Amino acid sequence: MGNGIAQVAARAGFDVVMRDVADEFLARGMKAIDKSLQRDVDKERLSAEEKAIIISRIKTTTDIASLSSAFIVVEAVTEDLGVKTEVFRSLDGVTGPEAILASNTSSISITKLGATTRRPDKVIGMHFMNPVPVMKLVEIIRGAATSDETYEKTRALTAKLGKVPLECHDSPGFISNRVLMPMINEAIFALYEGVASRESIDGIMKLGMNHPMGPLTLADFIGLDVCLAIMNVLHDGFGDSKYRPCPLLKRYVDAGWLGRKSGRGFYEY
Ligand code: CAA
Repeated sequence: MGNGIAQVAARAGFDVVMRDVADEFLARGMKAIDKSLQRDVDKERLSAEEKAIIISRIKTTTDIASLSSAFIVVEAVTEDLGVKTEVFRSLDGVTGPEAILASNTSSISITKLGATTRRPDKVIGMHFMNPVPVMKLVEIIRGAATSDETYEKTRALTAKLGKVPLECHDSPGFISNRVLMPMINEAIFALYEGVASRESIDGIMKLGMNHPMGPLTLADFIGLDVCLAIMNVLHDGFGDSKYRPCPLLKRYVDAGWLGRKSGRGFYEY
């Protein structure tokens, strides 16, 4: 997600600093950006020169202090409250007092992340969808303390990135995953109970509901560990058994079958 966000910002004309914990992850991110932009060069929607200019706007670093002059930082680390909290504390220390700290979290509380900083009014959710260069939506989440000014600036920035900002309040799973994940989880239950094959479940939803991907294919695309983490946030956050993660989803994650990224999920890649 991080490289997709960096790509979209650089394409919109912004100078971007992309930070990760190791050079190999940064190299992988830059490779993904190159590949994604090359699609548009091949389709003659972007010239090779424009592609080179976009790439030259992105600097990479492993040093979080290199973000010190950023007017906004979009965090896209692993979906774990402890890890995100640590990153937000560090960002609060290295960035200027006016910088907005946005999180691309898919379900973790923006209010909680804001409370770990000295600027909760400047903490906001900017939830991009995968693949970031293609998907139009950015779900904008206001934490309890997010100011109107921070919201307005983030909304305007999202529009400059060529995306559609849609607002929602801080609540487990926000809107996107509160609606999407129970559907995916239900599809996994149907597979678990032997109601239909993976191909039938996906085909029924693709052909019958006009979804671009069936729910099991989509789960593999998102990552089964991410799906499980989101179901756990919904389950814990609402305390309602309707959000219990399917045992088959847990078993696959335990086995390391995480979807496309690990070569196996509900399908083999
Ligand atoms: N970078 C740039 N362009 C890309 C791309 C990428 N990484 N991936 C696909 N594309 C472009 C292709 O070039 C193609 O462009 P044109 O039609 O303009 O030529 C277009 O997207 C369609 O791609 P393909 O023809 O290769 O394949 P497709 O028609 O099967 O579409 C898809 C692929 C866009 C991923 C489509 O299957 C889709 O929309 N799937 C659902 C995606 C979805 O639901 N995403 C949200 C997941 S949830 C999430 O992200 C948040 C969360 O919190 C969990």
